[in-house]
Amino acid sequence: MEILVSPGPEETAARAAEAVLAAWPTDTSHGTPVLGLATGSSPLGLYRELGRAVAEGRADFSHTHGVALDEYVGLPPGHPEGYRQVLLREVCDVVGLAPERLEVPDGSRADAASLAAAASAYEQRIRDLGGVDVQVLGIGANGHLGFNEPGSAFASRTRVKRLSARTRRDNARFFHDLDDVPTHCLTQGLGTILDARRLVLVATGDAKAEAVAAALEGPLTASVPASVLQWHPDTVVCLDEAAAAGLRNRQYYDDSAAGLPTP
Ligand code: GLP
Repeated sequence: MEILVSPGPEETAARAAEAVLAAWPTDTSHGTPVLGLATGSSPLGLYRELGRAVAEGRADFSHTHGVALDEYVGLPPGHPEGYRQVLLREVCDVVGLAPERLEVPDGSRADAASLAAAASAYEQRIRDLGGVDVQVLGIGANGHLGFNEPGSAFASRTRVKRLSARTRRDNARFFHDLDDVPTHCLTQGLGTILDARRLVLVATGDAKAEAVAAALEGPLTASVPASVLQWHPDTVVCLDEAAAAGLRNRQYYDDSAAGLPTP
């Protein structure tokens, strides 16, 4: 795991964009590349940086498939806070990803059978696309990844999850009031996320410091779903100073980020 700490959110976003582009497939003869997409405020700067790379001719996402991490259950199609709409606004419009190549789990029908079918169809869709090349991630203040709340199995696949009270409170800012926040979601499982070839996690601000420290330096535990990152062979974690404040081994991460000595 590579842990890169930057002074503030802007530099963090720029380094996260570099981490995406450095692993971006150049040989597309085996299929179109797949970018895994997180919602939330954490990756917005990263998406803007990718948009800048497109404008400067350093990247092109026009043939890329975008694969969302999660979706609320029970919001009507086209709801502005449904993650399909959010990703159309915050990613497709910004990086030039074609809307018809955006994949989001279908949480519009709220009965158990429809949701189970939507979850397995989503897993199949990701497999058919050849898997995710780079998965962008944020982290919840309670350590969740996607909507894998504390207690989520490390081997879990896309499925229905109950949102925790904390997550519903955190996300109430996007809705009229707390009662409007859905109680359930469809989310890629931690096992699904682990299948992505590279993970790029972005976290900024002191509200994330505790979750970041627990995830990166604490025990591997389902109580902190993001601790599963410790298991992945190619994870880049991009933090600002505030989000990194709880890390004990900080000096080592900075030394490692400096790279090999010049011969
Ligand atoms: C939501 C998303 C997560 C995201 C988290 C953190 O719950 N499902 O994928 O990481 O929020 O959001 P923010 O970046 O706004 O703090």
